[in-house]
Amino acid sequence: MDLIAGELGFSQFASDQHGAPAPVHFFSVPVSLLQSENKDLLEHFNDVVVGVVIVVQKNHPIKGDQLFPFQDFRFRSDGRLRHSLPPVSAISRQNGYGMHPPVYLDNQATTPVDPRVFEAMVPWFTAKFGNAASRSHRFGWEAETAVDQARKRVAALAGATAREIVFTSGATESNNLAIRGIGARHIVTMGTEHKAVLDPVKRLGIPVTILPPRPDGLIDLDQLRDAILPETGLVSVMYANNEIGTVQPVREIGAICREKGVPFHCDAAQAFGKIPVNVEEDGIDLMSLSAHKMYGPKGVGALYVRRRAVRLTAQMDGGGHEFGMRSGTLNVPGIVGFGEACAIAAAGMDAEAERLCGLRDRLLAALRSGIDGMRVNGTMKDRLPGNLNVSFPGISADALLMTLPEIALSTGSACSSATVEPSHVLRAIGVPPDLAHGSVRFGLGRFNTEEEVDYAVSRIVAAVDRLRALAPT
Ligand SMILES: Cc1ncc(COP(=O)(O)O)c(C=O)c1O
Repeated sequence: MDLIAGELGFSQFASDQHGAPAPVHFFSVPVSLLQSENKDLLEHFNDVVVGVVIVVQKNHPIKGDQLFPFQDFRFRSDGRLRHSLPPVSAISRQNGYGMHPPVYLDNQATTPVDPRVFEAMVPWFTAKFGNAASRSHRFGWEAETAVDQARKRVAALAGATAREIVFTSGATESNNLAIRGIGARHIVTMGTEHKAVLDPVKRLGIPVTILPPRPDGLIDLDQLRDAILPETGLVSVMYANNEIGTVQPVREIGAICREKGVPFHCDAAQAFGKIPVNVEEDGIDLMSLSAHKMYGPKGVGALYVRRRAVRLTAQMDGGGHEFGMRSGTLNVPGIVGFGEACAIAAAGMDAEAERLCGLRDRLLAALRSGIDGMRVNGTMKDRLPGNLNVSFPGISADALLMTLPEIALSTGSACSSATVEPSHVLRAIGVPPDLAHGSVRFGLGRFNTEEEVDYAVSRIVAAVDRLRALAPT
């Protein structure tokens, strides 16, 4: 069957394989042409964008096999398109047609929005634009219903109840609400926490105990037990580290906090959606979450607040939204996207973790065999599936990344890369400054492929060789 490209009338420019700009037409079909197992997702659209066609003139008839599909759209023999949401992502399918640098390997900084998440969000920007707090008409009611559904989905992934999820603008706000809102007289935390924990803790002006990590990045549980004083009002330890990916023994920390009767706050921004997190089993009382670390949109997150166990003072007063804990009109499309991201993570977490561990091991083995003296930072045993943090002795990681514009990597935490200080996390685990300056964080994610890993390794190995050859001996 021949179809006409460019019906939506918008196009963009991308690079073709030789680096030349090539027009990309978003290709749409009327919904009536589509046979979808997920028709309800499409009820508000006349047309759906099903893929992109590169270098096609307007009004040029194209065949189904010229389409780079966004998702699992297939032409059937009767000429109709069949659509089902696939376990394999749209983007990795696109990559299957040939990899196009730049290659994104910085999934701890942020993740791309999953196309399924984007699809779920779209109606909440357009036809369904109501304010979830409007009680007097259906625009408000449908927005409120969507928020309620998302709240249930976030809660389900956390092992919580919907009433315990407070939507925020992200993990920074959630950390601030937990730390400032609890009114503690003494706080115990760790030197490897994100700045969104360390800064509010320090600003409170109360006594704080900052525990050093062990050299492998993990907490010393005996030290934690000793640090909790009768006046301690909060223990704040992150689930997984954003730089070195180390996963703390959260369940043991939760048990110690229970035993001592102290609320336990956990910044789970990096862990949530990637590894199993359960507030009941883990003994967590407050937990910070962020959608953009798990293929959801930026600017939305949540704080889990254990009911009848902790009381928080709101940091944002206004209309009394979010059970009085966080006033402000809700970001309905963002919240819907966050809920969808949670549902997707719940369905595919084990398989995705296994695939990412495989990719990460492939990356590590190839780097090791290509680069002498490379050192891994943080334990490999308790670690996020897609994370690798390594130091290349004798080179500056900043110089390395400058020579590799085709690969997106990070030399530390992206959130603190405005400063040129060596990472506080690497310093805390005892990495000497020269090695810390030569360290690179790899964050592999849902849409990365083996081909991308192999490409990145070949470029990095060559660049490290070049830089080492240039270095004075
Ligand atoms: C562990 C951790 N906590 C908090 C944050 C801040 O999250 P958000 O960007 O949602 O404010 C980040 C982001 O880098 C993070 O990695």
